[in-house]
Amino acid sequence: MLLDQMTLSEKIGQMNQVNASDSDITDQLRLDIAAGRVGSVLNQVDVDTVNELQRIAVQESRLGIPLLVGRDVIHGFKTVMPIPLGQAATWNPDIVREGAKVAAREAATAGINWALAPMIDISRDARWGRIAESPGEDPYLASVLAAAMVEGYQGEDLIDIGTIAACAKHFAGYGASESGRDYSTTNIPENELRNVYLRPFKAAVDAGVATLMASFSDLDGVPATANKFLMRQVLRDEWGFRGFVVSDWDSVRQLAIHGLTENDKESVFQAVTAGVDMEMAGESYAHNLEELLEDGRIDIEMIDAMVANILSVKFRLGLFENPFTDPAALPAIANEEALETARKAALQSAVLLKNDGGVLPLSAETLNSIAIIGPLADAPYEQLGTWIFDGDSDLSVTPLRSIRDMLGEDIEIRYARAMANSRSRPTGSFAQAVEIAADSDAAILFLGEESILSGEAHSRANIDLPGAQAELVRQIRKTGKPVTAVIMAGRPLTLTNIVDEVDAILYAWHPGTMGGPAIADLLFGVESPSGKLPVTFPRMVGQIPIYYNHKNTGKPPSPDTVVLIDDIDARAPQLSTGMTAFHLDAGYTPLFAFGHGLSYAEFDYQNVRSSSREIGMGDTVTISAELANNGSVAADEVAQLYIRDLVGNVTRPVKELKGFKRVRLEPGQRVTVDFELHTDDLAFFGRNMQLMTEAGEFHAWIGGSSETDLRTEFRIIDSE
Ligand code: BGC
Repeated sequence: MLLDQMTLSEKIGQMNQVNASDSDITDQLRLDIAAGRVGSVLNQVDVDTVNELQRIAVQESRLGIPLLVGRDVIHGFKTVMPIPLGQAATWNPDIVREGAKVAAREAATAGINWALAPMIDISRDARWGRIAESPGEDPYLASVLAAAMVEGYQGEDLIDIGTIAACAKHFAGYGASESGRDYSTTNIPENELRNVYLRPFKAAVDAGVATLMASFSDLDGVPATANKFLMRQVLRDEWGFRGFVVSDWDSVRQLAIHGLTENDKESVFQAVTAGVDMEMAGESYAHNLEELLEDGRIDIEMIDAMVANILSVKFRLGLFENPFTDPAALPAIANEEALETARKAALQSAVLLKNDGGVLPLSAETLNSIAIIGPLADAPYEQLGTWIFDGDSDLSVTPLRSIRDMLGEDIEIRYARAMANSRSRPTGSFAQAVEIAADSDAAILFLGEESILSGEAHSRANIDLPGAQAELVRQIRKTGKPVTAVIMAGRPLTLTNIVDEVDAILYAWHPGTMGGPAIADLLFGVESPSGKLPVTFPRMVGQIPIYYNHKNTGKPPSPDTVVLIDDIDARAPQLSTGMTAFHLDAGYTPLFAFGHGLSYAEFDYQNVRSSSREIGMGDTVTISAELANNGSVAADEVAQLYIRDLVGNVTRPVKELKGFKRVRLEPGQRVTVDFELHTDDLAFFGRNMQLMTEAGEFHAWIGGSSETDLRTEFRIIDSE
């Protein structure tokens, strides 16, 4: 067995991941790899350099153990898919899986065999810059998409060419960073952790994810990188995870900065005993593990088990048989299939938030001219979004270009950028933008955030449209022309100050390489929008965290109990407010609800019913509804199933997503959508932290958003 032949130094070497981003391999790196002191490198993407690194590892090191070559391949490699939050808005695991598959194949051409993705941190906080990378706020949607992404990267078998190991991150709770400030503390009670934040990770583990990454964040006083409960108890003992856990970048040494340990040696002790198998950057494992063994504070069995976890992934990848990469054996970068996947993902990710008077789709037949305005209409780099180390903006097709290509000479297209970037404050160029809008039959504004405004360490406390964009909207509005806003952003923005100033809003997130063609098709009705929000849009930032699957409280608000600040009765101020859970200046509803998304078709749900009024524990119930397309165009609709468990030994959310289906309906078509629910699907972690389903009354809704009120009921009867 390989492990038996390894010296202690070689074992510790496997637990060491080093940055190898330099274009020339440094002498130190050559020496370290040849001496067996490196198990993995990251951030090298030149295939010849990667092959040379592998050659050193397999030919010059004593045991010839190949390297894991890691990279943040988050939403594409050269061909960029929409940001993960945008992909979540597709509610389509097939397209998400396909996107990860394309990313894996392209990354594999560079010799990368390990993607540091999917990021599956639930987030209920749009201020957090990394919400762009997240699947949103819902544990069920996130779990389905987590599994799809793992399947996409890893394929059927990691031995297959073009598949790469995935890494579910950041374990766990990072998305709950206080006030959305990146790297901040998280306070998540265990019950909430289990019922919400851990669920997508369990799904990734069940889908066979090869690795996990520990989070930077502090969870209830114990930073995740030192958190034995997370990595030993939950991940290994309860879930039976067999791969390995990597720290985040230098997060082992940061344990001292957190104030958990006094020095690097103690940090290593904490991380290794908690179950971090490999250290990313930092090299404190390399410098301290041997001494900890000599001191007798850790034993060799622990190290052996961790090294075995790492080696097992290298075996799964087939690296011992062939560590080298021949790019010619893989599909070409940005081939037709890759671009088509990116286009389809962008198409399905865009969410039509509002469409007053059916201003969209625009009709090439009735318009003579349009004005295209704004800093993001023709911004090839910005439309790619955050985390695109390798993304190629030369491949980007912008909306301006696509609209021009689509309309040719038929319609006059006038373009004004109006702002240097999304943050600009000068309004000097607005007059020209107003002029072209006034001269045209319709205006399309391309607004939002540049890519730099979201992502790691790019959190915002104010999530309005930045710079002078709202002012631009107001000025264009005055022309009286129909105004459509296409918003590209890395997060939900608070749109309250512009929502009434525009006729339609298409929320395109950062749509990636093929954003342009997708948006053009949607604006001009070649396709109907079909994205649905994977996260709640607040009216104002002070409502955060606001999410659909909240608890009821003992004083739930209702339209009758809400009294807004201007309506307080001066004579009896105490009595006039409803004494329920709402904000005096915001009420309690969001601007746009989770699951919301309009269509050019007219979808109508009816007759929501349950196959039985009562079921026994262990049985299945079918919840179904009639769905009709009463409109005049064919379109996809995402039908959503929500339930409420009315009474629980811990309080349950007012609604929980339990199923969804993307279906395509022709005009006039009517289908039955049905969802099977096994009583296990209704399980939650109760007071004793055990997963269980309780007997009792359930409500179930089906509809096109979390706001649906089409409800049925069923009851689980305890047979004992
Ligand atoms: C991020 C990780 C990423 C790593 C390597 C860290 O700062 O938190 O998500 O994988 O850097 O780039």
